[in-house]
Order: sequence, then C-alpha cells, then structure tokens
Amino acid sequence: MAKIGLFYGSTTGNTKDTATRIRTAFGGDIVTVASIAGATAEDLNRFDVLILGTSTWGFGDWQDDWAAFQREVVQVDWSCKKVALFGLGDQYGYPDTFVDAMGFLHDMVAARGAQMAGVWAGQGYDFASSCAYRDGRFVGLALDADSQSEMTGPRIREWVQGLKGELGL
Ligand SMILES: Cc1cc2nc3c(=O)[nH]c(=O)nc-3n(C[C@H](O)[C@H](O)[C@H](O)COP(=O)(O)O)c2cc1C
Repeated sequence: MAKIGLFYGSTTGNTKDTATRIRTAFGGDIVTVASIAGATAEDLNRFDVLILGTSTWGFGDWQDDWAAFQREVVQVDWSCKKVALFGLGDQYGYPDTFVDAMGFLHDMVAARGAQMAGVWAGQGYDFASSCAYRDGRFVGLALDADSQSEMTGPRIREWVQGLKGELGL
C-alpha cells in the first residue's frame, strides 16, 4: 500500500493536475491520489501521512468539495497523522485572499492534533494578504496556475524534496 494519501478538492481541474504532478515528483508508488469529493473519513484514516490540496474560491472561500467534507472531519483520527498541505490561488486576481483555503485546511487539522509538515518559505510571490501566510512562511506549498504557472514545476520539485526529508522517505 502507498505510504501517503493525497486528497484534493478541485473545481476547474488545476488542483487535480497539481496533485498528479506532486505524485510524480515523489516517484514510484509512494503516493495514492484521490478526490476529496465523495471521500469518507475512513478513506483518510487508511493513511498515517496525508497531503491535502485545495484551491480557493469566492473571495477567500472554501473549495466546494472541502466544504462538503466538513461533516466527515470529526471522524478522522488526526492526532496520529502527519499532514502536509498545498493550495492553488490567483495572487493577482485575488491579492487579499491568496490561497486562503489552505489556511483554513491548516486550522481544521492542526486544531485536531495533526502533526504539520511541509511549511513553505518559497519566494517570488506578490500578494497583499493570505490566511495561509504565517510568520513569513506559508503553511504549505502555495501555487498559482493563473499568474505564475512557469514556477509551479520548480516549486513542486523543491517542496517535495524537502518534504521527503521531513518524512524520512
Ligand atoms: C470566481 C473565482 C474566485 C476565486 N477566488 C479566489 C480567491 O479568493 N483567492 C485565490 O487565491 N484564488 C481565487 N481564485 C483562483 C482559483 O483558486 C484558481 O484559479 C485555482 O487554480 C483553481 O483551481 P481548481 O481548478 O483546482 O479549483 C478564484 C477564481 C475564480 C474563477
């Protein structure tokens, strides 16, 4: 069985595509990728290590499939899990709410005792405000397929390399 479960919420496919690219960057069959749409707590509980991905919608709103998953959240045993996050947004279109939903995911799982991994200190962003930006770092990998798509590949590679080290893989 794969060591890591990657669950994503994606409305127009960008986060889904990114999930596949992250899996490829890990190499081999270490990562199982699945949509959070229709997933149950039991699906997440199969893994000790989770990567959760989301886009941000509205003006700093949850992505729909993650919003729907809220009813399952309490059934996941977060306290025994390591969790890393990635988020997609548009820093030029939505500079005041850039990748906010990744911050919501962070608070959702960290408050329930998950051990967080994959904090991202990457540079080159241009935004005004983000719920996912704390003490000069993002709570997970921040990506922008709308305005900085050329930086997605290098950012994924650097983040995955660091995360593998953190997870002892
Ligand atoms: C109507 C609309 C609202 C959006 N709101 C935000 C936002 O508040 N913050 C942000 O960072 N990105 C926002 N975005 C950008 C999306 O998060 C971005 O396009 C993302 O790549 C979509 O990923 P998905 O296809 O996986 O859902 C918005 C996009 C649209 C079309």
